[in-house]
Amino acid sequence: MNRLQGRVAFITGAGSGIGRACAIRFAAEGARVVIAEVDGEKGEQAFRDVENATPNHALAVTTDVTDEASIEAALEEGVEKFGKIDLLINCAGGSLASDASVTDVDMSVWSHTIDLDLKGPFLCCRFGIPHLKRAGGGAIVNFTSVVALKGAFPGHVYSAAKGGIISLTQSLAGRYWRDNIRANAIAPGIVLSERVGERLGVDPAAPREQQIAAAMEQNNRLVDSRHPFGYGMPEDIADIALFLASDESRMVNGAVIPAEGGASFY
Ligand SMILES: NC(=O)c1ccc[n+]([C@@H]2O[C@H](COP(=O)([O-])OP(=O)(O)OC[C@H]3O[C@@H](n4cnc5c(N)ncnc54)[C@H](O)[C@@H]3O)[C@@H](O)[C@H]2O)c1
Repeated sequence: MNRLQGRVAFITGAGSGIGRACAIRFAAEGARVVIAEVDGEKGEQAFRDVENATPNHALAVTTDVTDEASIEAALEEGVEKFGKIDLLINCAGGSLASDASVTDVDMSVWSHTIDLDLKGPFLCCRFGIPHLKRAGGGAIVNFTSVVALKGAFPGHVYSAAKGGIISLTQSLAGRYWRDNIRANAIAPGIVLSERVGERLGVDPAAPREQQIAAAMEQNNRLVDSRHPFGYGMPEDIADIALFLASDESRMVNGAVIPAEGGASFY
């Protein structure tokens, strides 16, 4: 299990959900992981989860991806501890339940969501890419969403932010290949992270299949019963991020990988 042996991953939002699953999965494949999480308690818990499974593989740094100084300091701390950063996993993000259509949405949703979901990854690239270059290259994995691939989602601010992530990822791919850096994005369907599971009233202690069945009953707005694979767990997405971070995806650059059970195609 050495697919990321010798790599150092800076993973934002790694205190829960997909980010934490990436931290655990990446460390199990040999990477050292920097858990860059705004919520100190969640970050510490994720740190313990990684360390229990793979001792001496993690560092937790309280980080706000909307704050330039905070990102710079967290990257520095990661480099000080592990010697370099060569994987940048921009996972912090998420929609607000109060998001709505253009004509109805409260503009406070705009500032919060654009800051977190678009400016956050932008800033992490701005300050992270110089570290990747110093490491001789690396990989960036961004998180967009199925909502950016089709027009059915009622939360227009989140859709706009995640659409921006697709263009940003393509621009990164088009520019930084010269520095041996690949950039790709994942567009998940509905992933039962704690945040999303709670919103759908899913019991996090239930077995995986039961959680997915309960979520499908609750939410058929976007991913309905025609798309049974459109519901997943954080670990499903961490596996895709692992592929994009590893050399197995050496020929993949600027891609957006839909992980939504086909919901955007049929
Ligand atoms: N869960 C889904 O259904 C789904 C679907 C499509 C896309 N995505 C995207 O995948 C990513 C992860 O989603 P998730 O459901 O695992 O999220 P999550 O809410 O479970 O985890 C996000 C983490 O980011 C942290 N965070 C919030 N603001 C932060 C900030 N300013 N700085 C640093 N950390 C911050 C949170 O504390 C939390 O621990 C997000 O970008 C989300 O938009 C999720």
